[in-house]
Amino acid sequence: MTTLNPPTPDILSPEFIDDPYPFHRVLRDHHPAVYHEATQSWLISRYADVAGAFRNPAFSSRNYDWQLEPIHGRTILQMEGKEHATHRALLNPFFRGKGLEAFLPVITRNAAELVDGVVRRAGGELIDGIAGRGRADLVAEFTTWFPINVMVDMLGLPRSDHERFHRWYHSIMAHLNNLAGDPAVTARADQTREELREYVLPIIRERRDGDGDDLLSRLCRAEVDGQRMSDEEIKAFVSLLLVAGGETTDKAIASMVRQLLDHPEQMAEVRADRSLADAVIAETLRHSGPVHMIMRQTEEEVEVSGTTIPAGATCILMLAAANRDERHFRDPDTFDVHRPDLDVAKAFSGAANHVQFILGRHFCVGSLLARTEMTVALDLVLDRLPNLRYQEGFVPHEAGLYTRSVPRLLVEFDASAG
Ligand code: HEM
Repeated sequence: MTTLNPPTPDILSPEFIDDPYPFHRVLRDHHPAVYHEATQSWLISRYADVAGAFRNPAFSSRNYDWQLEPIHGRTILQMEGKEHATHRALLNPFFRGKGLEAFLPVITRNAAELVDGVVRRAGGELIDGIAGRGRADLVAEFTTWFPINVMVDMLGLPRSDHERFHRWYHSIMAHLNNLAGDPAVTARADQTREELREYVLPIIRERRDGDGDDLLSRLCRAEVDGQRMSDEEIKAFVSLLLVAGGETTDKAIASMVRQLLDHPEQMAEVRADRSLADAVIAETLRHSGPVHMIMRQTEEEVEVSGTTIPAGATCILMLAAANRDERHFRDPDTFDVHRPDLDVAKAFSGAANHVQFILGRHFCVGSLLARTEMTVALDLVLDRLPNLRYQEGFVPHEAGLYTRSVPRLLVEFDASAG
């Protein structure tokens, strides 16, 4: 008698999109590297294979040439080799403590305070708006705004432009998730690209010669090996930041609050002991991380879990499936801030043992900023929204394929004077 393997799950099916986690297990156990006809891509789902691919130069990010360049322009995501190293060297100082010292000593003095101050002010203002009301949709009124407002403030752009950036952010996001190819969505994204361009380019030119200490001014003046980023590159980076730093953090905060509401005993623990904050954030990224899939392209033939993938193939690296691989994490579907097999101390660095920020040369530039934003959000939610609970009858449900979280979070809390 032969045992039949379960069929390959279809990642575009309504069942998968409704609840991908059981299908992730089928993929890991029976089809760890498998061709998916509808997307013409190879699905890779085991932790060891996904982590290995990110560290293997045979998997390049040149897929972003056609995926993202039409939206943002050319960005760091699609660069490899020396070009990528140069751009990382330009950016790292603004986002990572150690690099700061080597680069521009003036930034070292206040970067941490600057980031912290901006993040706390942006988050506090949003919570002020809802704390007195006793009920809110935390996604619509807090998480989608917070990272964008932080970014606008860090770039040194007028706070009156928060709304405008929010609109652009939603337009780019709609375009990236436009699987059905709705022409109205594409047209809006084209318009956004033009508007953003017309808005940012004159500001970049103005800041080239200024002495501002905001992120945009610093990017305009920064040099590595005598090389500066061009106007177009800086514009593309601002556009990328809206998505890379906006959507991810927005969704990660929503998932973190959702998990704590679903696990009140763990919420009570972290409320009493804030030294657990990093563990809450890291476990959220592992268990319910916002980025479910990242694409790559093979530069040569590669072997993955016994399957040969040809050169020039598009691969979908399934981060969420890898982060729940029972070969790597015990009882992986359980949300547990005390999980002994997740390395919390390294969770925001390139030595992390989860793959939500990926690993290797394209490791997320903004992991420390994301951690700061999530910490501030956690404090604000715990301190300013007492007795937080779901609204009567509300049941949270995740949505999204490439990126995923709860699209609504209807909560009640004891109203405060603010
Ligand atoms: C929880 C929040 C976040 C998650 C889960 C996340 C996840 C990721 C992932 C998966 C990548 C790899 C993309 C790829 O190589 O295809 C990445 C890269 C990147 N992220 Fe994040 N990110 C987060 C927050 C941020 C923030 C706040 C920023 C803002 C500075 C940021 C900026 C970037 C940039 C610029 C890259 C490109 C790095 C490179 O190509 O070398 N991210 N991030």
